[in-house]
Amino acid sequence: MKAPSITTTFLALTGAAIAAHPNVKLDLKAFQLTKLSASLYDQSLPAYRIVNFDLKDPNNNVDTSCSSAWSGGMSGAYKFKCSNSNYQVNFPSLYDIEDIKLNVSVVNSKEFAPGEINGDKWKCEDTGAEYPSKVCKWTGVYDLPIVLA
Ligand SMILES: *[C@@H]1O[C@H](CO)[C@@H](O)[C@H](O)[C@H]1NC(C)=O
Repeated sequence: MKAPSITTTFLALTGAAIAAHPNVKLDLKAFQLTKLSASLYDQSLPAYRIVNFDLKDPNNNVDTSCSSAWSGGMSGAYKFKCSNSNYQVNFPSLYDIEDIKLNVSVVNSKEFAPGEINGDKWKCEDTGAEYPSKVCKWTGVYDLPIVLA
């Protein structure tokens, strides 16, 4: 019996590392999200969340805006259309607007862009009002790198 050679082990490890790494295509520029905001409406049930942003696709020189109203009963796979309906967004996680997982995708394309919005630049405040009860805003541009399916 021979122990696996160093080369075999190395190949096995790099293979795993490549497989685990998202297929980021380097010549595609990230989507740019601006005026990104989220609001929580939980005065009556079902509570819902509204997420708005402007979307720039620098690769195709497209500017559009996206607005989604997601309620707790909806699937995270449900796709909301942006004004330009070639662009869509779904929310794998949106229960807590302080920590959002979103996924922008392009119709009839392999391009999609998953992202997580949270942290210091995602400023959330209780409004003290009921409608909405909480609002979060991102200052500046949120870059959302594109991956290919
Ligand atoms: C993101 O959208 C793409 C394209 O529709 C889809 O294949 C992928 O499963 C979505 N990812 C998540 C986490 O929703």
